[in-house]
Amino acid sequence: MKTYKIVLLKGDGIGPEIVTQAVKVLNRAAEKFGFAISYDEALLGGCAIDATGVPLPQETIDKCKAADSTLLGAVGGPKWDGMPGNLRPEAGLLGIRGALGLYANLRPAVIFKPLREASPLKTEIIGDNLDILVVRELTGGIYFGEHGKKTVNGAEAAYDTEIYSVPEIERIARVGFEMASKRDGRLCSVDKANVLESSRLWRKTVARIGKEEYPNIELSNLYVDNCAMQLVRNPKQFDVIVTSNIFGDILSDEASMISGSIGMLPSASLGAGKAGLYEPVHGSAPDIAGTGTANPLATILSAAMMLRYSLEEYEAADAIENAVCEILKTARTPDIYTEGMQKVTCEEMGDLVCKIL
Ligand code: NAD
Ligand code: IPM
Ligand code: MN
Repeated sequence: MKTYKIVLLKGDGIGPEIVTQAVKVLNRAAEKFGFAISYDEALLGGCAIDATGVPLPQETIDKCKAADSTLLGAVGGPKWDGMPGNLRPEAGLLGIRGALGLYANLRPAVIFKPLREASPLKTEIIGDNLDILVVRELTGGIYFGEHGKKTVNGAEAAYDTEIYSVPEIERIARVGFEMASKRDGRLCSVDKANVLESSRLWRKTVARIGKEEYPNIELSNLYVDNCAMQLVRNPKQFDVIVTSNIFGDILSDEASMISGSIGMLPSASLGAGKAGLYEPVHGSAPDIAGTGTANPLATILSAAMMLRYSLEEYEAADAIENAVCEILKTARTPDIYTEGMQKVTCEEMGDLVCKIL
């Protein structure tokens, strides 16, 4: 039997609760579709700081590099907010993305039919099957540019630098075009080319890759402020969005809410190899950690993405997504609760998905 090696980075806040549910679902899928998974745990974020003094121990990088893929909960919380920037839990997350070379972050915002009423947008605006894919550049831009502090006119100042090289833009553009070619064939590149030099290089490079390599894909461009507005005005116009690290961070949270709750949105972070890092788009939700009310579906759907993109267990991936869609007809965690449904805890939701599987 095929055995996959998966590293679990449970992280902080609701991280351990949601990862536990996703592991349950993965095990059930493995049993059903005839493969096995061996798990190893490693430390990332606040829990790593508490245990070792740093948010990303070398051991964690080594374990992830040796694995078939990594499943992450979330990191961060008020306990570590006072730490210097390079020692915060979030720096550990950026560090592992960088160390594994995971430059492409896929964030699908899909609305499951039973959840249409849970979206804050009117049903006629979201339509029948809203399905947007945000392709976010993940190892460059302002997150990885030069940061620092200095004095400006005698006052304390700080800076972060947005910088992109042509090869960095080319490779993420290709991911955007490839994804669009497997879907509706439409790619929207989002930037701030009316203001930022780095965005003008971005736009020019994406256009060239489109013209030279993907002439059949319909490429459009939007400024990020307009895109933020269009996502709420008429989300159906979007198929694939490709954008920079920081714009992708913001737009994917916005897109997540269209689909009902940030607790629903999974993500895949991919690089040159087959192994990836899979995590929900949301954070460690310190406000609800330990209450058992977190929605585990974003993490469960991230596990499904791992089965599809890294382990090539397509049937198992489809089955998990179908089970999630099915359970949403009757059971909801509080974030997506509507009257008449069964209100369930994080753990109960995990059990119900397994039962359907
Ligand atoms: P957050 O996503 O953690 O929470 C925002 C809101 O959404 C909160 O009200 C929270 O309760 C709710 N929410 C999030 N996930 C949910 C779920 N699965 N089920 C139900 N409700 C959910 O964002 P934040 O509050 O801005 O950040 C909290 C901490 O998480 C910070 O330290 C931040 O840096 C970190 N963070 C980590 C990641 C990550 O690890 N990938 C992502 C975003 C934020
Ligand atoms: C995300 C998070 C992270 C990011 C933070 C916690 C570093 O918001 O994964 O969306 O900005 O990339
Ligand atoms: Mn984010």
